[in-house]
Amino acid sequence: MTTTTVRPDAHHDSDLTRSRATAVARSAAIEAQIRTDPSRHRVLTGDRPTGPLHLGHLFGSLRNRVRLQEAGVTTFIVIADYQVITDREVADHIASDVCEIICDQLACGMDPQRSTFFAHSAIPELNQLMLPFLSLTSVAELQRNPTVKAEAEAAGIRSLSGLLLTYPVHQAADILAVGGTVVPVGLDQLPHLEATRLIARRFNDRYGHVFTEPDALLSEAPVVLGLDGQKMSKSRNNAIQLRHTADQTRQLIRSARTDSQRRISYDPVNRPGVSNLLLITSLCTDEAPEVIAERIGDAGAGELKRVACDAVNEHLAGLRARRADFAAAGQDVLQVVRDGNVRVRAQATEMLERVREAMGTVY
Ligand code: TRP
Repeated sequence: MTTTTVRPDAHHDSDLTRSRATAVARSAAIEAQIRTDPSRHRVLTGDRPTGPLHLGHLFGSLRNRVRLQEAGVTTFIVIADYQVITDREVADHIASDVCEIICDQLACGMDPQRSTFFAHSAIPELNQLMLPFLSLTSVAELQRNPTVKAEAEAAGIRSLSGLLLTYPVHQAADILAVGGTVVPVGLDQLPHLEATRLIARRFNDRYGHVFTEPDALLSEAPVVLGLDGQKMSKSRNNAIQLRHTADQTRQLIRSARTDSQRRISYDPVNRPGVSNLLLITSLCTDEAPEVIAERIGDAGAGELKRVACDAVNEHLAGLRARRADFAAAGQDVLQVVRDGNVRVRAQATEMLERVREAMGTVY
């Protein structure tokens, strides 16, 4: 153990503002490493189980997750069930939401043999890592985390719970416990990743090298809006869920907000509704949105909706069929999580041993 003192607040402001540009450049380098030597990295990513997954998740993160798995990178997926109670008081159907998101991911192509799913609440070792990690994080740093602030605001919370305030530190435990080196995230999660990097660095500075500082892997995923032009979200009832039927999808897309201009054009700033349907179609067919717009031309929003709906239903047909098969087979999808919990507990226990040795608390 070294005697270096590490004040949580000292000389790290520049780290917290490590620019988006740096993360983008790092991401490109990591992508190249993954192509040449996937065994060098371990991916950890996750979701909070607040409801079934939708097209925003599919294009924003799930496709990328499957791609990384297929590239041969060891992948962990945390089901962040404790995060559900950071910003809401009632959490009455967590287990069924967990089932839904597992089904969605298996149907997308995630393979529980190669990718490990685990529930945060099932791994007590994560909570043990929290205490030393908390000692390396200042209250001021937690209070200025922009993602925590935004989440509190979005949930209409005036008085932060200790759990929400410390959530970035829990997330650091999720990542570091399994030795994650790469964390695929959207921009909103960058501050959390910076917090994880700081914790890893400060721990190593104080106690000797145990943790590898993980990098964000920023995806260039386009943001798909909900059918009302707001962020796509289950609670706003504006989402096309992966589990919806073709008919439900048709009804939803029919109700999408467009505009009164007959000629279809791709113009996200001035025509968000029309452009969003073009983007969704484009993501399903791999054609440029402008090309799709040109083809529809003067046929108007009705035709655009028909085209978008066919594209989505066709794109999701295989996934939905696989999803229906799990249900029909009565497959116990929670077994996937139970198996993953066992694997992750073994790894987290090993990591905790190393932490105890570094801290000199082995008795
Ligand atoms: N906070 C993430 C979200 O809201 C979910 C999450 C929890 C996570 N732990 C994580 C993501 C660790 C990446 C790494 O979506």
